[in-house]
Amino acid sequence: MISTSEALPSVLDYSVLSEGELQARIHSRKHELGAVILGHNYQRIEIQGVSDFLGDSLALSQEAAATDASVIVFCGVHFMAETAKILSPDRTVLMPDPRAGCPMADFVTGEALRRLKAEHPGAAVVAYVNSTAEVKAESDICCTSSNAVGVVETIDPDREIIFVPDRNLADYVADQTGRTNIIPWDGYCYVHNDLVLDELDRAVAAHPEAKIVVHPEARKELLERADFVTSTGGMVDLAAELPALIIGTERGLVDQLNLRHPGKTLIPLSGAAICGNMKLNTLAKLAWCLDHEEYPVVLDEEIRSRAERSLRRMLEVSDGWASPTEDQVALEDAGVRPRGCGCG
Ligand code: 13P
Ligand code: SF4
Repeated sequence: MISTSEALPSVLDYSVLSEGELQARIHSRKHELGAVILGHNYQRIEIQGVSDFLGDSLALSQEAAATDASVIVFCGVHFMAETAKILSPDRTVLMPDPRAGCPMADFVTGEALRRLKAEHPGAAVVAYVNSTAEVKAESDICCTSSNAVGVVETIDPDREIIFVPDRNLADYVADQTGRTNIIPWDGYCYVHNDLVLDELDRAVAAHPEAKIVVHPEARKELLERADFVTSTGGMVDLAAELPALIIGTERGLVDQLNLRHPGKTLIPLSGAAICGNMKLNTLAKLAWCLDHEEYPVVLDEEIRSRAERSLRRMLEVSDGWASPTEDQVALEDAGVRPRGCGCG
């Protein structure tokens, strides 16, 4: 087992180690710390390989809320690690590279959202989880790409909704729910917004037998051509079922699916769809992060607790989640009942 005394001084020292050495270090140090590694579906394939739990934003937030591990190492982007800290404030949440942000989340600030709320005092605010803790704190409820339609359906149809920060997801939700009172923020994901019909046409011409699945962060004209619109987690399920699929999302997921299903035709809609932010995490940085217990996510408690309320509301209306009752919380606090997500 590697002890902290064997930690190397800089990430550069880790980057010269072989993949096998890094994996061994990560494995033993993870056990030493009692850590769990959560990895998003867009992570580099070698990070996916050492993740204890791999999933979409919703599944990862459910896992972060339920885990018993004292340390959560989040391999994803900043808003995801922040979400884990919001839901599990007593755990240490570490990021291998704190520069791994989500440019879509940066489209809206708490201050700008407060200004829009002042113009629409009666509106409910729905924050896509791809947002900062401060924006979540200003919102009534959060959503992810897998539950956005269901979350919006819980809101009084006559009430205006401010939807931040993804205009494409807001449009999709408006289409699916038939609502005409959704005010979209003008943000987008550069990876999905850049997917174009030309690329889809080429993929379809090469694989006419394949079904098409597109992430709801893509533009409307792509969603209209899709057989399925779903989150990365939904895409994992579809790839398990179907023999041939054109996949409109980030490449990391398609790489994962091709490793899992070598006999299938699983084609990226665009080979250029790469989220550089997700790819900032490397095995070397992960090993360094575990050895040095860096970089921790730190949140202002007042913002964290208000953001938690919006996230918990989302989890409550998402399948498989039930908040613990007061009795259960008391038993947990007394150490009698193990902490859990309430699933199933
Ligand atoms: P998922 O929730 O579908 O995994 O999406 C997260 C994300 O960042 C998509 O760009
Ligand atoms: Fe953000 Fe887009 Fe990257 Fe997802 S793929 S983390 S939405 S920039």
